[in-house]
Amino acid sequence: MNTMGIHHLGIAVEDLDAALRLYRDTLGMRLKRTEELPDRGLEVAVIDGGGAELELLASVREDSVIGRFIARRGAGIHHVALRVSDIDAALAELRGRGVRLVDQAARPGAGGTRVAFVHPEAGQGVLIELVEEGRA
Ligand code: CO
Repeated sequence: MNTMGIHHLGIAVEDLDAALRLYRDTLGMRLKRTEELPDRGLEVAVIDGGGAELELLASVREDSVIGRFIARRGAGIHHVALRVSDIDAALAELRGRGVRLVDQAARPGAGGTRVAFVHPEAGQGVLIELVEEGRA
């Protein structure tokens, strides 16, 4: 399987403004963009991390995926996203190896990417996201 490093770390935060004060204002990292995802109940800020990005995920609804994660485990690292060249081939290979998946097929992610999640049970408690960059 052709994995090309860490694409981003998804971090569940309770307060996006406080997180931006830390990462952008205090640590001096560059804010690339913010996004509102009302259908998923999320607000997202993407920080330039040099190679990999930090995806700061704040819940605007208690029943969002991040709201439930924070209620259960508290704020912190939510997922590790790995860059793959061909997400369909990657999912087929993982399925063939009996790896438990959250998503059986890739779905559209931010910025023209295609993404899918591997079940945290398969990742020793870590939720793994696969990301295929958009083909120009
Ligand atoms: Co992500």
